[in-house]
Amino acid sequence: MALRQIRKNGDPVLRQKAHPVKKITPQIIKLLNDMAETMYDANGVGLAAPQIGISKRLIVIDVADEHNLLKLINPEIIASSGKETAIEGCLSFPGIAGEVERAEAVTVRALIPAGDTIELKATGLLARALQHEIDHLDGILFVDRVSRFVEVEKK
Ligand code: NI
Repeated sequence: MALRQIRKNGDPVLRQKAHPVKKITPQIIKLLNDMAETMYDANGVGLAAPQIGISKRLIVIDVADEHNLLKLINPEIIASSGKETAIEGCLSFPGIAGEVERAEAVTVRALIPAGDTIELKATGLLARALQHEIDHLDGILFVDRVSRFVEVEKK
């Protein structure tokens, strides 16, 4: 595995619509592993391939501190319900956070590295992370959806 450089706000790749993955190759598996390593290194809960400069529909998410890693290929939201507002940030926007309204619950269909198609029902932080990362695949950034920016504590 290898750490990849995280692309920051202003990089045009973040605004591109990412391409579906046609075949799960060893290169795709390696990319997902690199994305997970890069996400953990940056203390993030999610990362989309465009954030490392790769315009492919791949995301990794772990909202449980390295205990529940999801690697999803061509993820799509197939159902959503409810509304919930919470504060979000993004590894491509260091030092920026804001309130974003998202669906409270989502169902996502995706391929997993083993080649199976799964349907995942999620609520809470996982539902939020899925919506945020799938947005990245369509060139949508969380700042587009922020209703109010909030102060970020300086470290
Ligand atoms: Ni993000």
